[in-house]
Amino acid sequence: MSAARDSLLATTDPSWRLADRELWLRAWRSADVPQLVAACQDPAIARWTRVPTPYSETDASAFLLAQGAELAAGRELHLAVVRAGEDELLGSIGLAALDWGNLTAEIGYWAAAPARGHGITRRAVSLLSAWAFDALGLARLEILVSPENRSSRRVAAAAGFKREGRLRSYRDLKGKRRDYDIFSLLPGDPAPTSDARPASTAG
Ligand SMILES: CC(C)(COP(=O)(O)OP(=O)(O)OC[C@H]1O[C@@H](n2cnc3c(N)ncnc32)[C@H](O)[C@@H]1OP(=O)(O)O)[C@@H](O)C(=O)NCCC(=O)NCCS
Repeated sequence: MSAARDSLLATTDPSWRLADRELWLRAWRSADVPQLVAACQDPAIARWTRVPTPYSETDASAFLLAQGAELAAGRELHLAVVRAGEDELLGSIGLAALDWGNLTAEIGYWAAAPARGHGITRRAVSLLSAWAFDALGLARLEILVSPENRSSRRVAAAAGFKREGRLRSYRDLKGKRRDYDIFSLLPGDPAPTSDARPASTAG
């Protein structure tokens, strides 16, 4: 656990990132707030995620502020997805429900509307999954998706996750209990047949 904890805490280093040819996954910075607020005005993010609606600068600052404690407690990790070598925000990805007894976690994500449809989230999921298995020693990753969320189901499948079934009335999202389809990935699962595999990991 202590090596995993070190790896988690190392993500706050400004030089730390997970990278492929076009994407960097890195710690959120206060300078990201305006782009974060702009991206979270999107109705699809409001519909399918726990991101509050409406979403203000105060929400964004509170999100950034809460991350240190969540990370230190080993509960959650949130990363910005940016264009490699730039600060253009393409999306968000993270690990939640980290369970160190079972070595499991849940991956959650959104993409900024203009960045969608280019495989960005699929590749971000693959980068984060490979690192979570290698650096954190996790034994299973899950993605929970509303059955009607076609694009997110595609992301999970395209990143190599296997659909295991439907969890009925599994959790509350914005005041309504919802069904969720559960997808999982194990360390030995075949890599997706795409350019989704990490090209390099820096930091
Ligand atoms: C779901 C979401 C993150 C997808 O992001 P994205 O970067 O556009 O996804 P990608 O480009 O990586 O697409 C991955 C796969 O899904 C497919 N796909 C993406 N959007 C699709 C859509 N609307 N309909 C059908 N297929 C879709 C892509 O073609 C690709 O398939 P392929 O690998 O076979 O070509 C984005 O639509 C989003 O932010 N939605 C709102 C928030 C949300 O739903 N978050 C997830 C909650 S579980």
